Amino acid sequence: MEYILETNELTKVYGQKEAAKDVSLHIREGQIYGLIGRNGAGKTTIMRMISGLSTPTRGSYSLFGKTGAEMRKELRNVGVLIEQPGLYPRLSAYENLKIKCLAMGIKPQGYVEQLLQLIGLGETDRKKPARSYSLGMRQRLGIGLALVGDPRLIILDEPINGLDPQGIAEVRDTLTRLRKEKGITIMISSHILEELSKLADAYGVIHEGILLDEFTLEELHRRSEQYVLLRTSDNDAAALALERVGIHAAADDRGGLRVTERLEETPLMARTVVEAGIDLRELSDHSVTLEDYYLNMTGGKHNG
Ligand SMILES: Nc1ncnc2c1ncn2[C@@H]1O[C@H](COP(=O)(O)OP(=O)(O)OP(=O)(O)O)[C@@H](O)[C@H]1O
Ligand SMILES: [Mg+2]
Repeated sequence: MEYILETNELTKVYGQKEAAKDVSLHIREGQIYGLIGRNGAGKTTIMRMISGLSTPTRGSYSLFGKTGAEMRKELRNVGVLIEQPGLYPRLSAYENLKIKCLAMGIKPQGYVEQLLQLIGLGETDRKKPARSYSLGMRQRLGIGLALVGDPRLIILDEPINGLDPQGIAEVRDTLTRLRKEKGITIMISSHILEELSKLADAYGVIHEGILLDEFTLEELHRRSEQYVLLRTSDNDAAALALERVGIHAAADDRGGLRVTERLEETPLMARTVVEAGIDLRELSDHSVTLEDYYLNMTGGKHNG
């Protein structure tokens, strides 16, 4: 089995709208796979289909190498947290988890305690009702509920949405621990790319229902070179002057010039621009973040 989850041209049409269009994504065992895309891109639509919560209009997917009826049996090995976790607000984390265990035919003794430790709620008052929890605690309880039954894959839709930095860090620690201690594969959606890039090691970029790209963190690093950004009073003239000394500069989508080669020669770049009678307003070194990479990809597509 090469992939723990693979979709094949998965498509969902709502009325006239293709909320997901021919999505073929690939998740390997043990990965934390980040599904990224702006509001309305189709993230929840895809996750609902994969979780068995909605039926694809077209296309198919395989779980743990199985398809069709065999695959549907595998859905019990998938834990899901989509949108709001369904908590009983008057009951504590302990009681919420216990009810889910009983519903799934799992003996709660000992099991619930372990889960509470795993999601960082081990020290929380056993009687404290979930409605009085912080958003971060509720979100972690939602993850705990998805973990009942020891799934091999969990699907989490925006689990860090609305959390403060502390809450985000706690969820991140919980997920990292889950992978390390339990070897669980995690599919997670978010539009907080800076945070996601600290957690995920593979990504799928979804834009207007289409999967634009898939890449691992390593591939991202390999693809996204460092660059030097120049801002000048006349970018076209500066680019010409740089070209004459053998340095190619391309227009940057934020109104500057971008050089991706001979980066150590910043003194030459500065001198060339200034000696051509052009004002140099900024010259800075950059590495491309996940966010830059994403904006470049989706922005380009959007305008093109
Ligand atoms: N049940 C539905 N009926 C009709 N249209 C829907 C339905 N669910 C989603 N859509 C539409 O499909 C598109 C994709 O929605 P989806 O919820 O999958 O996006 P998303 O990436 O999860 O966005 P967000 O970041 O806001 O959660 C949107 O245009 C949305 O309006
Ligand atoms: Mg959504």
